[in-house]
Amino acid sequence: MLRIALLGSTGSIGRQTIDVVQHLGPLKTQIVALSAQRNGELLEQQARALGVRRTALASRDGIEKVVEMATLPEVDMVIVAISGAAALLPVWHAIHAGKRIGLANKEILVTGGALIMDAVRRHNVEMVPIDSETSALFQCLHARAPSEIRRLIITASGGPFRETPQADLDQVTPEQALRHPTWSMGPKITIDSSTLMNKALEVIEARWLFDIPPERISVMVHPQSIVHGLVELSDGAYLAHIARNDMRLPIQYAITYPERLPTALPAFDWLANRHWEFTPPDLEKFLCLRLGLEALQIGGSMTGWVNAANEILVERFLRRELSWKGIGHCLAKMMERHKPLAHPTLEELLAIDAEARLEAACI
Ligand SMILES: NC(=O)c1ccc[n+]([C@@H]2O[C@H](COP(=O)([O-])OP(=O)(O)OC[C@H]3O[C@@H](n4cnc5c(N)ncnc54)[C@H](OP(=O)(O)O)[C@@H]3O)[C@@H](O)[C@H]2O)c1
Repeated sequence: MLRIALLGSTGSIGRQTIDVVQHLGPLKTQIVALSAQRNGELLEQQARALGVRRTALASRDGIEKVVEMATLPEVDMVIVAISGAAALLPVWHAIHAGKRIGLANKEILVTGGALIMDAVRRHNVEMVPIDSETSALFQCLHARAPSEIRRLIITASGGPFRETPQADLDQVTPEQALRHPTWSMGPKITIDSSTLMNKALEVIEARWLFDIPPERISVMVHPQSIVHGLVELSDGAYLAHIARNDMRLPIQYAITYPERLPTALPAFDWLANRHWEFTPPDLEKFLCLRLGLEALQIGGSMTGWVNAANEILVERFLRRELSWKGIGHCLAKMMERHKPLAHPTLEELLAIDAEARLEAACI
């Protein structure tokens, strides 16, 4: 039986993880610790319903208490459903405590991918992605030698503004940007999906998770969200991951990996899903995607700087302090201000993250 610490239990992924654990049943898995940021009421409700005695509310107890949940001796696996780089310290300590990691969060690999994956290798822990695209690639890559892999392709729904003319993007409201065409998710990732920053974050995540150079990772817009990832093999053949767009699938796979168990989800409907399109993304219209990919080319601390700035700029957009296009414009200015460190330490990464947040709050 696998004992899980679920970090970010009150969010979209957190709540779906609880569904999956309940579906798998107590003989297979049990949640033994929970954490949230502010929503103490739901956290307590979840703890009562699941019979969990160990909880942490970051806004009240501090991130150290979340780290404590992630490193409890009784925990086998930590599911990381916290949004943003705030998950960095809990994951760092969980890896050092030898815990298996189920990673939904994408921001921490964007901030500290080189350091984190180095720690994963040194401590010989399993890190299984939960993000649907990286889970798709993980499943396609399973047991393949690096020499067999030519290219990874990450698909993007294109977000709510895929067909919106460039000129109309000046008027975008938070309500419009929060209306994602194919996925229902937390607010930060939904805004990132509207700017396509989400895809840049996934490319960076994949770069570290699979140790593949950035030039061998591409993005394709696929509005139907049926194919979640493609691997091009050295002989020119492709492996595709095709599934319903339901996060409970990658969550369950991360928990049961390498085993596959039945889910409660209906079978994929091939007749209702006959139309599939793939087009390259528009890097002029979606400035955030372009900037995120440029940050990866620059490397070092630049991706963490961009990630932290983006987190604050998204919050400011949601508070109506900034326009939707302003997110990209401010990010471009922020990138000019940062002199990246090639091989930052954890302490340096945390300091750069904090500095970027301060600057992004008033740019
Ligand atoms: N939702 C999806 O379908 C999806 C798909 C792929 C990947 N992801 C990734 O998974 C992560 C979670 O996404 P989500 O959509 O589930 O987000 P969400 O609905 O906003 O939930 C975030 C969770 O993290 C907690 N949290 C937020 N800030 C925190 C902090 N500073 N310290 C500690 N806990 C904090 C929140 O607690 P409160 O509720 O108390 O604020 C909540 O439990 C993100 O990195 C996202 O990119 C999500």
